[in-house]
Amino acid sequence: MSSNNDSIKKTVTVALSLCLVCSVVVAAAAVGLKPLQQTNKDLDRKQNILAAADMLDPSRSIDEVFQSIETRLVNFDTGEFATQAELDEAGIDLANYDQKAASKDPATSVALSAEKDIASIKRRANYGIVYLVMNGDDIDRIILPVHGYGLWSTMYGFMALESDFKTVIGFGFYDQAETPGLGGEVDNPVWKGYWKGKEVYNPQGNVALGLVKGAVDAKDPNAKYKVDGLSGATLTSRGVTNLVHYWLGKEGFGPLLANLRGEGA
Ligand SMILES: Cc1cc2nc3c(=O)[nH]c(=O)nc-3n(C[C@H](O)[C@H](O)[C@H](O)COP(=O)(O)O)c2cc1C
Repeated sequence: MSSNNDSIKKTVTVALSLCLVCSVVVAAAAVGLKPLQQTNKDLDRKQNILAAADMLDPSRSIDEVFQSIETRLVNFDTGEFATQAELDEAGIDLANYDQKAASKDPATSVALSAEKDIASIKRRANYGIVYLVMNGDDIDRIILPVHGYGLWSTMYGFMALESDFKTVIGFGFYDQAETPGLGGEVDNPVWKGYWKGKEVYNPQGNVALGLVKGAVDAKDPNAKYKVDGLSGATLTSRGVTNLVHYWLGKEGFGPLLANLRGEGA
């Protein structure tokens, strides 16, 4: 009997059956959990948008607070919000617009020259998502998705600006893979807090905001444009400065923000 069970044929049959059952279970779990994963991803994105805009309210659900946020698309070429007619013509459905996918497709994005690509993102979608908090007809806050390369990874985050379109309300990354304790400190709440009240543009209208090596000297007359660098993470810090300069600059949201400030060309 025992010699029967030890036969090669039986061993292989049992091993194959086990592999088959396990792969069916894993595949079913992956397919079955996909909608839940997507829901959680959406919730995480909304939470990070609200956190940047300083709108998290523990007494209300994320979805409930997020209802006060309006999603719009910006035409980076014109520096204006895209009209519905424009989106219809471009075949874009705002509710399902995937900016990451659009930035990979040559038909819906532009390749960036080495000189322009300071955030190391290679391509930029023609239309970018922005989130608005309205106060009647006026924009009260604007939340801008930004991304760029650090040392090991592309870091994705949100920067929220006040209604003057130049003062930071909050800034944070929701997806990055820098080294925990070094570049990963971009997720440190204390460091994120340093961004509040900082100004993006100097009086000439150029992006001045960025990280310095070490701590910012509070007596520095330009301290409002400076945030403490991440110690032991000069390259990640440089990546953060570069992505801020890219997305708040002429190639990113700069023209839109200048228009909103009434300083458009
Ligand atoms: C294991 C390891 C992980 C590192 N992770 C990071 C990182 O996430 N971000 C970063 O800028 N530098 C990181 N560094 C350090 C860089 O290699 C480089 O030395 C550093 O950015 C130089 O900046 P410093 O002058 O602040 O030390 C890491 C180094 C090692 C050995």
